[in-house]
Amino acid sequence: MTTQNQGLLAWIDARFPLTATIRAHLTEYYAPKNFNFWYFFGSLALMVLVLQIVTGIFLVMHYKPDASLNASGVPVAFASVEYIMREVNWGWLIRYLHSTGASAFFIVVYLHMLRGFLYGSYHKPRELVWIFGVLIFLCLMAEAFFGYLLPWGQMSYWGAQVIVNLFSAIPWVGEPLSIWIRGDYVIGDATLNRFFSFHVIAIPLVLIGLVAAHLVALHEVGSNNPDGVEIKKKVDPKTGKPLDGIPFHPYYTVKDIFGVVVFLMFFCAVVFFGPEFGGYFLEYNNFIPADPLKTPPHIAPVWYFTPFYSILRANTVNFFYVDAKLWGVIFMGLAVVVFFFLPWLDKSPVKSIRYRGPIYKTALVIFVICFAVLGYLGILPPTPERTLTAQICTILYFAFFLLMPIYTRLDRCKTPPERVTFDH
Ligand code: HEM
Repeated sequence: MTTQNQGLLAWIDARFPLTATIRAHLTEYYAPKNFNFWYFFGSLALMVLVLQIVTGIFLVMHYKPDASLNASGVPVAFASVEYIMREVNWGWLIRYLHSTGASAFFIVVYLHMLRGFLYGSYHKPRELVWIFGVLIFLCLMAEAFFGYLLPWGQMSYWGAQVIVNLFSAIPWVGEPLSIWIRGDYVIGDATLNRFFSFHVIAIPLVLIGLVAAHLVALHEVGSNNPDGVEIKKKVDPKTGKPLDGIPFHPYYTVKDIFGVVVFLMFFCAVVFFGPEFGGYFLEYNNFIPADPLKTPPHIAPVWYFTPFYSILRANTVNFFYVDAKLWGVIFMGLAVVVFFFLPWLDKSPVKSIRYRGPIYKTALVIFVICFAVLGYLGILPPTPERTLTAQICTILYFAFFLLMPIYTRLDRCKTPPERVTFDH
């Protein structure tokens, strides 16, 4: 480093903890040396978050949240998206990056969460890392839901209508509450404007704050790893550094860049060759402008919401004086809220799946299959057989969590090693 640069750095360091921060969080932040494929998804989620914010900024330059009809009888909001696609230089790329980014975000975050289940990353001392994660997940769902209304296509309109109407199932306050959320008796211009406001500023601010809290909490306790062994317990007596830790920079910055490159290969393939992804990432009905007088025959949310949507529809029986629709809403909410309690539901003495017994392994496989089946069923129109399957999967979904305190105690676990296992 030149003397001039050192001088500048010293000047900054005297006023701002730049070198100290770089040391504490990068060059002298020790991460376990045995990270595998599953540990790519945190940094990928971070990258997709940045991508969504940057592409979002450019979309807002041309998008208009206006439900009124233009001279050709097309809603202004819908037409502004078409304008971005056809007239704005590189507009199609920015829009496809953003729409594909939304689905990619959920793919990455679902895999990131699955890693938590595999390696028990929510166990002590990472409960808060997990709780911030679940809050991020809730925000992400809100962000995607608000954003989906903006193109003002048929699916945007009717999807929002269905979801906001769910609030009307709440006794006493339901009806006025849903009108208050919409700002109108039906989804309309007022709804579009407030959803726009939430999508571009309110939720992203909360999301960024939560991601910062997630990472601060993570760096306070340090990362878990595929063996579930706490590396801080075995330190070099001379240096006080974890024996199984390596500096985050350069080792994991390089590894994460590799992950980003591989991810971008798949991501760009979708953006350039199949941005609609067979109607899963961009639904075909959403290329039709919103029409309040024409309900589409089948309304389905985007794929990442469908497991929860299936749980909502699986409730078909009125009981305890509460009607099926309200039970649906309650169970759908609980399906996410239950994640918060995971650190206290899991009583296993070991963290990693590598050392867990057969019961947890089986339970996790059943849970993942049920989640995927619920997701698939949520895309399809309901039939009696599909509803029955969704009901069975919903019961198994909740059983995974609620029976966890019992089966994780009964499971026959192996003794984890003292130090992490690592092969070159
Ligand atoms: C915008 C979304 C998110 C971002 C940017 C993000 C970012 C990160 C990063 C960079 C890491 C460290 C690298 C890694 O372990 O992969 C991490 C770890 C972690 N995240 Fe997230 N995360 C997000 C969402 C979530 C969600 C939704 C959950 C759970 C509900 C979650 C739970 C965790 C846990 C438990 C760890 C520690 C893992 C371990 O040490 O084994 N995160 N996150």
